[in-house]
Amino acid sequence: MPAPKRLDAANAAPKNSISMTTKRMGRKVAKSGKDEASSKQRVGIIGLGLMGQGIAACLLAYGYEVVGFDTDRRKHTATTRHVTVALAELKKQKLVEAGFLKSWKSRLHTASSLADLASCGLIIECVREDLELKCSIFAELEAIVPRKTIIASNTSSLPVSLLQAGRIAPGRYIGMHWGEPAQIMRYLEIIPGKQTSKTTLQACLRFGVSCGKEPAVLKQDIRGFLSNRLMYAMLREACHLVESGVADVETVDQSFRNDIGWWALLAGPFRWMDLTGIPAYAAVMEGLLPELSTGTAVPAMMQRMVKRKAFGIANQKGFYPYTKATAAKWEKDWVQFTYDIRKLAERYTPKS
Ligand SMILES: NC(=O)c1ccc[n+]([C@@H]2O[C@H](COP(=O)([O-])OP(=O)(O)OC[C@H]3O[C@@H](n4cnc5c(N)ncnc54)[C@H](O)[C@@H]3O)[C@@H](O)[C@H]2O)c1
Repeated sequence: MPAPKRLDAANAAPKNSISMTTKRMGRKVAKSGKDEASSKQRVGIIGLGLMGQGIAACLLAYGYEVVGFDTDRRKHTATTRHVTVALAELKKQKLVEAGFLKSWKSRLHTASSLADLASCGLIIECVREDLELKCSIFAELEAIVPRKTIIASNTSSLPVSLLQAGRIAPGRYIGMHWGEPAQIMRYLEIIPGKQTSKTTLQACLRFGVSCGKEPAVLKQDIRGFLSNRLMYAMLREACHLVESGVADVETVDQSFRNDIGWWALLAGPFRWMDLTGIPAYAAVMEGLLPELSTGTAVPAMMQRMVKRKAFGIANQKGFYPYTKATAAKWEKDWVQFTYDIRKLAERYTPKS
């Protein structure tokens, strides 16, 4: 592999320059592909499951070199397959620099062990949500990569401070929470732990913008971060409504889609209250909040689904009935929908 350019804490922007730099990078990378992303910095991805494959597609689309590692060798082939489809679709949609979409194969490397990630300036850990597993990988990595290599975890819920506790050079550890399809969405949450350094945070912010994201940075390291906390509060209430017999699954979905789903891309909860009148919400909260679910156990209906091994679309067993064909159609529609949504987002909520 050729000598890489490093994206790491040592190469972070000087103090106070971050907002200027990120805006500049975000715009030029998306339109011309001729900014810093074209310098092909090398990023490692550990775990090539659903998220790792999506992140690989995103990074390749924005000009990065990717070194992917998975203990399950079949995932390496699956990643190439996934990226081929994802980037062909991106090409049709003309969302990123065409040159990047042509050259991606030469920038995707598969690692036979973690040692092959030694030259990466940034490593994104994407293995399953298991504290022990993630920590054992970090321990192994620390013996391989230089102290300035940034190590990001795509954890959905584990506090970053917990992941970096007791680590060598804990300042280079950070949470980087992606959404799927990663190559299309603007979503990225960046979560500094208690010991994360400012240079690590700045480098990750620049990196996020350079691959088409609008990074949201948390001020506190809190379990579940922002979007997951909001989503799980909603999921708990959705299960509560069904379990209490207020409505069935389909009706809850219908109401959600036609109300919250209608405005959520444009507004977010606070803008929505501004748009529609704050006092009414305060009045409703007074009566309603005491009646919302505050349950702390996994809802029984979720436990039943897990017990019958219902994975959803993936194995055609979910809250709704599926055949192979209808499941495939939902997956296809979802990708097309995210492209349409992205166009709406670019029109109505341009990146700040
Ligand atoms: N699924 C989502 O929608 C989503 C969204 C955001 C974040 N996340 C988080 O991303 C992480 C990965 O989630 P996922 O859904 O991609 O999981 P996944 O189960 O699809 O993929 C995990 C991959 O890690 C590999 N793996 C296991 N042990 C390994 C090791 N020691 N070294 C290298 N590879 C190893 C597995 O073979 C598998 O391919 C989790 O922390 C999850 O919470 C998931």
